[in-house]
Amino acid sequence: MSKTPPSLLLAAATVAVAATTAYAFSTRKGTGGMTHISHHFNVPPEILKSDCRCKQELILAVRLALEAGKNMTEHYHSKGTADENIESLDISTKSCQSDFATAIDVKNENFIAGEINKAFPDHEIIGEEDTGTGAIPQLTTKPTWIIDPIDGTVRFGFVSQYIHIDTSIAYKLNKRQKTNFASGLPLSCVSIGLCLNGQPHMGVVFAPMTNELYIAVRNYGAFRNGIRLLGCTGEKASTSLDHAVVCFEFGYSSTQVGIDRMVDAVKRLLEHGVRTTRTLGSGVLDLCYVACGRMDVVYTGMAEEGWKPWDYCAGLVVAMEAGCEMSHLEKRSERDLDFNNALKKNYEFNLHSKSMICGVNSDLVEETRKVVMGQ
Ligand code: IPD
Repeated sequence: MSKTPPSLLLAAATVAVAATTAYAFSTRKGTGGMTHISHHFNVPPEILKSDCRCKQELILAVRLALEAGKNMTEHYHSKGTADENIESLDISTKSCQSDFATAIDVKNENFIAGEINKAFPDHEIIGEEDTGTGAIPQLTTKPTWIIDPIDGTVRFGFVSQYIHIDTSIAYKLNKRQKTNFASGLPLSCVSIGLCLNGQPHMGVVFAPMTNELYIAVRNYGAFRNGIRLLGCTGEKASTSLDHAVVCFEFGYSSTQVGIDRMVDAVKRLLEHGVRTTRTLGSGVLDLCYVACGRMDVVYTGMAEEGWKPWDYCAGLVVAMEAGCEMSHLEKRSERDLDFNNALKKNYEFNLHSKSMICGVNSDLVEETRKVVMGQ
C-alpha cells in the first residue's frame, strides 16, 4: 500500500468534510418543510491523527457512501410514495419475488466499485449486485471491499406466507410486496466494509434518510456522526431479556420448515416475556442500532437462508468496536466459547455464516440464543 504524507491526508479529509457539508445543505431543499438537522460528517480526528493503516481507504469510503446516499435521498424526496416508487425504480427480481434490485442499487454499486478500482486497483471487491444469485467469492488475503449499495431494499413477505393462504393469493401479495427503500421507508443505508487479511477491518455505513454516518475501524473505535459509540456500557451492560428490545430478520426462506422455525423462535421469545420485538428490514442498520444501544439484540439465520457478507461486514466492525457481543446461533460448545472469546478480541467472524446473534452483553446474547433455539 502506498504511503501518503499526513498533510495530504488531512487535505483530502477536509475536502471530504467540505463535500459533506455541501451535501447536508442540499438535502434540506427537498424536504417539503420538514425540519432537517444538518450534520458535519467528519472522519473522526481520533482516527485521522492516529497511525491507523487504512486512513486513505476510510476517507474514500466516507466520500463514496455520502455520494451514494445522495442518489438515494434524491429519489426519496421526489418519489416518496410507495405507488410512485415501484414504477420508477426499474425493479427487477433476483432470487425470488421479495428480493428486489433497484436501478439505484446498481448505479450505487457501479459508482462505488468504479471509484475503489481507480484508487486501489489491486484490491478485491465483493458487491451484492455484482454477485447477484451467484456463488459468493471466498475472501483472500488481499484487501477486499464488501459493498451493499443499498441495504434495506428488501422487506420479507412474512404475513402472506405465515397465514398459509392459497398460493395464488400469496403470489399476488408477494408481487405487491414493497421494500424499505422502494416503498419510501427511511430505514436503508449504504454499507462499505473493508477486510484485511480475510477479516473485517473497517466499516462505513451511511443512512441518508436519517442523516446518520457510522464509521468504525478495528482498534480505533466506532462513531456515529463523529461521536464515539458507547451503547454497550452503563445499564445496557446488564440488560436481560425481559427488558430487551430484540430484533430479528427473516431473510427469504419460503419453505414450510423454514417459516415454522422462524415463527416458533418469535413465539418462544414472546412466551418468555421479552420486552418487545422489531423487524426493521436492514441488517446493517440492525447492527448499528444495537451498537448505539437503541436495540439490545439482533439475530438472523433460524432458517436455511441467512445474511450474506455484505449484510455483516461494515455493521460488524461498528458493533464490535462499540463493545457488543457477537456470535452464531448454533449450540455453544466449549470450543465455541473459546471461539467467542477470540471473536470478542479479534472478531474472527465467518462472513459466510448464515446465522448470527449480536447483543449489548454476553449474558443477554446467551439468554436470547437459548430461547430462540428452544434449548
Ligand atoms: C437485506 C436486509 C434484510 C436481511 C436480508 C438482506 P438487502 O439486504 O439486510 O434485513 O434480512 O437477508 O438481504 O437485500 O435489502 O440489501
